[in-house]
Amino acid sequence: MSTLEKKFQEFQEKNKAAEIGGGEERIKKQHAAGKKTARERILTLLDEGTFVEMDKLVRHHNHDFDMFKNRPFGDGFVTGYGKIDGRLVYVYAQDFTVFGGSLSRSNADKIIKIQDLAMKMGAPVIGLNDSGGARIQEGVRSLSGYADIFYRNVMSSGVVPQISAILGPSAGGAVYSPALTDFILMVKESSYMFVTGPDVIKSVTHEEVTKEELGGAMTHNSKSGVAHFMADDDDHAMMMIRELFSFIPSNNMEDPPIATCMDDPEREDESLQEVVPADPNKPYDIKEIITTVADDNYFFEVMPHYAPNIVIGYIRLNGRPVGIVANQPANLAGVLDINASIKAARFVRFCDAFNIPIVTFEDVPGFLPGTLQEYGGIIKHGAKLLYAFSEATVPKITIITRKAYGGAYCVMSSKHIGADVNFAYPMAEIAVMGPDGAVNILFKQKIEKDEDKQKHVEEYKQNFANPYRAASFGYIDEIILPRETRKKLIQALEMTQNKSQSNPPKKHGYIPL
Ligand code: HXC
Repeated sequence: MSTLEKKFQEFQEKNKAAEIGGGEERIKKQHAAGKKTARERILTLLDEGTFVEMDKLVRHHNHDFDMFKNRPFGDGFVTGYGKIDGRLVYVYAQDFTVFGGSLSRSNADKIIKIQDLAMKMGAPVIGLNDSGGARIQEGVRSLSGYADIFYRNVMSSGVVPQISAILGPSAGGAVYSPALTDFILMVKESSYMFVTGPDVIKSVTHEEVTKEELGGAMTHNSKSGVAHFMADDDDHAMMMIRELFSFIPSNNMEDPPIATCMDDPEREDESLQEVVPADPNKPYDIKEIITTVADDNYFFEVMPHYAPNIVIGYIRLNGRPVGIVANQPANLAGVLDINASIKAARFVRFCDAFNIPIVTFEDVPGFLPGTLQEYGGIIKHGAKLLYAFSEATVPKITIITRKAYGGAYCVMSSKHIGADVNFAYPMAEIAVMGPDGAVNILFKQKIEKDEDKQKHVEEYKQNFANPYRAASFGYIDEIILPRETRKKLIQALEMTQNKSQSNPPKKHGYIPL
């Protein structure tokens, strides 16, 4: 073998060693647990043949605990860049087969390198997490790595999208990097996130709880609101990330990507005339309206399992991605409560940061009354949504489909807090409160008979529970028929396409956190 051939061979051997990670046995174990390896996940996520690996030969430099005898190439993380639908993304994946995917100073530096590149090049960072957390043998060196990553998560926030998939364990302080990113996706039954695990909980509070109950995918998708999506397995998770990315731009200077639209922008839908029932107390599913108006009737819902009294997600209208915020009359009559306010406020802020227009469907009887809500701070949490809508400078279009009562009228992207186009259906009811409540307060002393009350209720309905008063003041720009919704939204989006607005300069606002 020539000297050159030897050098090439050495290079090939090192590469191969890096690719095998923790070895065949550990890979088998990973597969047996229903999980893919870090490399397999990246290859599923990215367009075929586009992955370029960086720092493949990085190793740890730790001498404690005899660690220097075992220095696998790559050190348990695979990092690099590639493409999704032809668009550049940066990606890192923790390799559980090497030291349990634990974070060392060396592999933290690999992540930091791609975070810095992503900021310079204006492309998203996607993290595939499957790790035992800080590498215990490295002590504070590992913690320093985490903190450096957290810092970059914060600096990147609102500049480039950051997406985290949790595909195995994520425990302790390690959960805070995903928590600082824009979206968290978890896989059913193989992923979990918690700050302290079941054993610590048992010893401190004597509470017994399984890993799954404490921090599994369903817990964080339905109870805590920490996660936004739930996938069936690793492959499904990668497909969901690809889909999510199709709705969002690569950075805050770009507009979201426009898709070819085969659906008629002028399409009218007779079925919409019947979706909102004549009886204002009857529920209906707001998603029927959303999917009917969307291109190809497709709605990509975000956080479908959490606070279902408000619905958020993405559709396309004439090919352009749009963020949807919609009260859901089919759940708790679409009332605004703490969880719904927080869910929608964060989504509005993401859309605003990344130039995604917001369409709001409104049918809200008000804020949820009760001590639980008041003690829980509905005042400050409801204020978050008010703040987020007011602050958003992207195109904002609102459709009142039925009820718009009280403070909730103001909050849900009303004209007064900066919506650009406000529509209402003819059956809209825009007033301080519903007819019964109003009559009870206004005529408390005077009502003697049931018929008297009914008369006042009818009068109130006639005079107040309609969209015409608001339209007479210009608070509603146009009253439209439900069947025209798609066409009207697309026209409004075109009209607002070049919107240019900025808020007063400041260091930062002081949102009621
Ligand atoms: C070093 C680790 C490790 C870690 C796992 N390993 N976690 N090595 N540092 N943090 C190693 C194991 O020693 C083992 O090596 C291999 O990875 C696989 O781990 P197993 O325990 O065999 O796997 P499993 O039974 O599937 O259990 C996985 C696990 C468990 C639940 C993640 O390993 C575990 O509890 N690890 C510790 C988790 C933890 O407390 N981390 C610190 C969190 S605090 P061998 O060679 O034996 O196969 C934290 C602070 C961050 O991260 C702070 C940021 C501010």
